[in-house]
Amino acid sequence: MKALVTGATGFIGSHLAEALLRKGHEVSCLVRKTSKLAWLDSLDVRLFEGDCSDINSLQKCVQGQDYVFHLAGVTKAYAAGLYYSVNAKGTENLIASVAENNSGIRKFVYLSSLSAFGPGVKDRPPREDEKPHPVSDYGKSKLQGEHAVLRYADRLPVTILRPSIVYGPRDREFFWFFKTISRGIMPYWGEGHTSLIYVDDLIRAVILAAGEDASGRTYFVSDGEMYSNNEIINEIAAALEVRVRRVRTPRFILPAIGFLGGRISKMFGKNSMINADKIKEIMHPDWVCDIEKAKGDLCFQPRVDVKKGIKWTADWYRIHRWL
Ligand SMILES: NC(=O)c1ccc[n+]([C@@H]2O[C@H](COP(=O)([O-])OP(=O)(O)OC[C@H]3O[C@@H](n4cnc5c(N)ncnc54)[C@H](OP(=O)(O)O)[C@@H]3O)[C@@H](O)[C@H]2O)c1
Repeated sequence: MKALVTGATGFIGSHLAEALLRKGHEVSCLVRKTSKLAWLDSLDVRLFEGDCSDINSLQKCVQGQDYVFHLAGVTKAYAAGLYYSVNAKGTENLIASVAENNSGIRKFVYLSSLSAFGPGVKDRPPREDEKPHPVSDYGKSKLQGEHAVLRYADRLPVTILRPSIVYGPRDREFFWFFKTISRGIMPYWGEGHTSLIYVDDLIRAVILAAGEDASGRTYFVSDGEMYSNNEIINEIAAALEVRVRRVRTPRFILPAIGFLGGRISKMFGKNSMINADKIKEIMHPDWVCDIEKAKGDLCFQPRVDVKKGIKWTADWYRIHRWL
């Protein structure tokens, strides 16, 4: 089978490209002129140059594909417009190009995010039939991406996944926690609960979604547990074998930190994790979801618990000298 992966130069996309090759698929990847190909260099994949923001560049890569996995996205930006031009408009461009050039496709899988739904409440983790209420531009742009995909659900077979925070080898975002904790300190802005998923489990869910017969369904995916901020800090500290001191950081000063982070990023022209948009999310304590629908419809069973996943990730960071 032929599969196109967008976002394959990134964290999750590179793991997906590898997994699809292992399953014997012919894999193509959409890459930009500026993309760093480090994770793809040793893989037997076909490269198509293009950019989701430019619909004219998407015609060739979608032709003849059995599956399109749309993972390309902007997860951090100092200017909100970038979220919308890639996550919303870019998704609309890609699915429009599939409809025009490859209407016989077997499945279009869109990797959205829990952020597109918004924060939840630990005691009653949200389900997919509830109304989304994203709080960040990132989340709003991913929700617009979902809407763009669903507009084609009667013409093309589409499935949307909304992963919680994803972690694992090659990740540079959740890595911030590993890096900070490795120095023996961690800002602590109070209790909260988070769903997490190890990257290999997410890849399994993505591949299961591609095999689903139905069209137009949306699924939360995580490892099925909810972790308190303290548990996460403790697991990372244990994996890194460090003692960590929590530095109390009242939530009300977080927006100022986000503002400053955004300003510094802009000055250096580099998008950073610490920005006002990310802080809008952190201001909400609980980012959790219920994955019963994915378990039922997709037969998705997470296999990696947080202890193992964090240990493997920490080992990878050490072996690759990121820590
Ligand atoms: N990481 C998480 O915790 C998480 C959680 C939920 C959902 N997601 C979603 O999962 C997807 C992948 O995330 P990730 O963590 O793997 O991010 P990542 O490592 O930053 O990778 C992003 C990928 O998107 C590509 N991309 C960005 N703008 C593009 C454009 N205009 N045209 C074509 N490609 C473009 C990047 O290509 P370049 O190499 O050229 O920059 C890169 O390959 C995203 O859609 C994200 O919203 C991630």
